[in-house]
Amino acid sequence: MLNFEFCSPTKFVFGRDTQKRVGALVKEFGGSRVLVVYGGGSVVRSGLLAAVLASLDAEGLYHMELGGVKPNPRSDLVYEGIDICKKNGIDFVLPVGGGSAIDTAKAIADGALYDGDFWDFYSRKAVVTKALPHGCVLTIPAAGSEGSNSSVITKIEGNLKRGLGTEFHRPRFAVMNPELTFTLPRYQLACGITDMMAHIMERYFTNTPDVALTDRLAEALLCSIIEAAPTAMANDHDYESHATLMWAGMLAHNNSVGVDREQDWASHQMGHEISAKYDTAHGASLAVMFPAWMKYVYKHDVKRFVRFATIVWGVDPAGKTDEEIALAGIHAMQSFFVSLGMPATLEQAGGCRADIPELTAKVVNGKTGKFVELLPPQIEEVYALACEA
Ligand code: NZQ
Ligand code: ZN
Repeated sequence: MLNFEFCSPTKFVFGRDTQKRVGALVKEFGGSRVLVVYGGGSVVRSGLLAAVLASLDAEGLYHMELGGVKPNPRSDLVYEGIDICKKNGIDFVLPVGGGSAIDTAKAIADGALYDGDFWDFYSRKAVVTKALPHGCVLTIPAAGSEGSNSSVITKIEGNLKRGLGTEFHRPRFAVMNPELTFTLPRYQLACGITDMMAHIMERYFTNTPDVALTDRLAEALLCSIIEAAPTAMANDHDYESHATLMWAGMLAHNNSVGVDREQDWASHQMGHEISAKYDTAHGASLAVMFPAWMKYVYKHDVKRFVRFATIVWGVDPAGKTDEEIALAGIHAMQSFFVSLGMPATLEQAGGCRADIPELTAKVVNGKTGKFVELLPPQIEEVYALACEA
């Protein structure tokens, strides 16, 4: 177990009707002039935006709105939001939506108190030293941004999708009402389930020894997600399964299961290049990259993959070699993603084999991964494996 510091300061307000408390929560955390950030319109259609604004009004809070955040959120709206904050004395940013709205809000909060270009932070030219506070109302269990220290933005110039981790990115509060996810299209729910599983697996596959506690927490989370997913996918009003997914998505990425260990993140980095180039949904990029990555690296620690196969996927080890068990686990995972409606290949995710050299060249710093470090020739091989079902 490695040394660590872990601060998850977010106040999570979970359950039915909790969105009605958002105005009081903003006030509790010192906000008086609020920028509400949202996506392409789902929160308008569901009536959630109106409910949130009513709650702000009830507390007498000034508010402005910035809608139109797209999945794989772009830098243009961040600049617009920063401008609004600076010109209007905004002191609190309130995203209502999923990872894309929340990540946009985090970037706006960083840039609002900075004289330079907010992209300096995402390109590692500057470090965030202050930011506006933000809290969120979550509408999709997926990215885990409601509890994470990350934000992922695509810079339009150069089509660069880059993440930034800083403790300023932890929301002051997260309102999490599972009923708000009942309107999700099946495909988006499937993307979210895939993403939260990926967040756990990026941490699970580690070289750090003696991490039995967090291994078991990770396995319990994965098993719970796998159990809840079919019910939630089949019944968009089943509260318990949606509630399980919503809380699991937060636990998957606030780092509870990763604090004590070296983490991998190669599949995410390679997936980000797919999303940047083809605008593929984040979860769909991972459904393709994670099985390919596993097929490439499992021999590095077959015993860990055997454990994953038997505990998480219930693979029967009888009569099988370790390698056969490991591969059966990877196959079970990929079949599960496909059963949710996720793509199995790069082509099905909107990509093209001929672009592999370009995708590889854009992976940050020319290398990725900690479980197994991948350099460009290996990254190309993993992308090539993603072309095969
Ligand atoms: O834009 P609207 O109209 O709201 O529709 C959204 C969007 O089309 C829709 N949606 C969300 N909640 C809904 C709903 N539709 C109906 N009913 C609801 N209740 O779902 C679509 C996807 O929304 P988005 O916010 O993009 O989803 P997600 O939460 O998966 O966020 C993805 C983004 O987060 C980044 C990803 O890379 C991607 O850019 N990530 C952020 C992380 C973080 N900050 O910690 C970590 C992740 O690994 C990830 O990289
Ligand atoms: Zn992710």
